[in-house]
Amino acid sequence: MIAVGCDHAGYELKNELIRHLKDRGFEVEDLGTYSTDSCDYPDYAKKVCEEVVSGRAEKGLLVCGTGIGMSIAANKVRGIRAAVLTDEFSAQATREHNDANVLCLGARVLDTERAVKLLDIFLDTPFSEGANHIRRISKLEDGR
Ligand code: RB5
Repeated sequence: MIAVGCDHAGYELKNELIRHLKDRGFEVEDLGTYSTDSCDYPDYAKKVCEEVVSGRAEKGLLVCGTGIGMSIAANKVRGIRAAVLTDEFSAQATREHNDANVLCLGARVLDTERAVKLLDIFLDTPFSEGANHIRRISKLEDGR
């Protein structure tokens, strides 16, 4: 399952991305927000990240205006490795090297086509499982 959340700025792009995920056969949990009424992105980052750290969601997707607020909020949750992405190289690298588990996208930065492309790369690229990357990720978790 993919847990998805957004704020008011990300609402329309979130809906497009959910449509795409469902077309691809993914199970999706839409944790809101459910309109363009102004709201606070940390609330939705928290909901999505809870699904990911509990293991109920395989990955999380967060959309706000820039993706930055969502990523700041998401990365405060232990066990979350959130990446704000705008380019394909980073989308692949953050999966292979960082085993990123939450994707943050900016609806005011990306058009839908590019957002879909980044989402696909994020979901389709496995973690490299390299010993060096595993060691570095474990240092993120134990605060070293
Ligand atoms: C909302 O106006 C905007 O600040 C928010 O969507 C996001 O871009 C924050 O990082």
